[in-house]
Amino acid sequence: MKLLFVFGTRPEVIKLFPVITEFQNSDFELKICLTGQHKEMVQPLLDFFQIKPDFNLNLMKENQSLEHITKTVLIQLSEILEKEKPDYLIVQGDTTTAMASALAAFYKKIKIAHIEAGLRTYNKLQPFPEEINRRIIDSVSDLFFAPTETTKQNLLNEGIQKEKIFVTGNTVIDAFLLTASKKFNEKGTELDKIPANKKIVLVTCHRRESFGKDLENICNAIKEISEFDNALVVFPVHLNPNIKKTVNLILSNQKNILLTNPLSYPLFVHLMKRSYLILTDSGGIQEEAPSLNKPVLVLREKTERTEAVKTGAAKIVGTETKKIVEETKKLFKEEKEYQKMALAENPFGDGNASKRIFDCFKEIKNGKRKS
Ligand code: UD1
Ligand code: UDP
Repeated sequence: MKLLFVFGTRPEVIKLFPVITEFQNSDFELKICLTGQHKEMVQPLLDFFQIKPDFNLNLMKENQSLEHITKTVLIQLSEILEKEKPDYLIVQGDTTTAMASALAAFYKKIKIAHIEAGLRTYNKLQPFPEEINRRIIDSVSDLFFAPTETTKQNLLNEGIQKEKIFVTGNTVIDAFLLTASKKFNEKGTELDKIPANKKIVLVTCHRRESFGKDLENICNAIKEISEFDNALVVFPVHLNPNIKKTVNLILSNQKNILLTNPLSYPLFVHLMKRSYLILTDSGGIQEEAPSLNKPVLVLREKTERTEAVKTGAAKIVGTETKKIVEETKKLFKEEKEYQKMALAENPFGDGNASKRIFDCFKEIKNGKRKS
């Protein structure tokens, strides 16, 4: 059985690495296609995880449009699909790379497996364009690897047959546990100079729907938070020019705020470990933080990761300056509130999601399960 993995951005590499590792050294034939939607943010990960793509569409352009990504993947991947004729195309999550790849496979009547299927906010503009990307992927997929029971239920509600859905946990937990278990040496890194007694507030932000006013509000909140007792804000800034421009304008050269380039995955995991709390609009970080017992305040109006909100590990705080500051202050001042979030359960998996995905394909290959 021939499998083609396609991915292009930072979170896709992190979340597919443990899955690809399962399939390497097996009797599946494996091909890997990188779309190049991200460049600098992906290359160090490929090196770290030792992933060698067979194809690279090399598509990234400065401040690229959704149309550019979609069109390039659709046209260039189609040629690869025609030549390689895989039995399955495997995509992860909700990026435009994943959506356009799934569409390209559908046009060639190639089967599609979706890892991280069934996440929904049921608001087509939040997050934009990811909510519609994942719905498109799920409308053409043949195998659905849902990370949780909630995401399985979303798929069932949409009429997907239950035989095609597998609850696996999220593969990000596999990648995260593997990385977190390795020793990390801070020497010479950005973290080397941070005094141990500082309360690190780790911030990341990159959603397209927040560009402009919402991002300005978030940055203004961060400025106020940096004045809290003993606080140090560490903000690895996404390379998207729409993010960099606003963040640099409002937050550069401020006391108690450390702006950095995107950090390597092991360094970022280590930084999460050292943090007091995390403010983010990232999907992956909402899933990782509860494994480390770090409270997450979600800088969005809606989340598709409702499980962490339910267990109490995450709280949606939106993009209004006042609300973000108030909720962060609460966690600085009220020990009980902090502990309640920190001790909440991680609902996203046990670190064996990739193995479950591999086992499912093995059963299909051996004819024990219908594809
Ligand atoms: C993309 C995904 C988003 C995912 C995020 C993870 C889409 C539409 N968006 O958003 O779902 O959550 O990745 O980070 O699929 N850039 C660089 N170097 C890089 C990466 C980006 O310079 O390595 C800059 C480029 O100017 C690029 C811009 O960032 O044009 C935007 O990149 P793009 O992938 O379109 O959007 P993201 O915001 O990264
Ligand atoms: N991450 C990283 N370095 C950073 C910031 C994030 O390695 O400087 C990791 C993080 O641990 C998580 C993933 O990148 O696994 C999340 O990616 P991102 O927030 O870009 O995308 P999303 O998950 O929102 O799609």
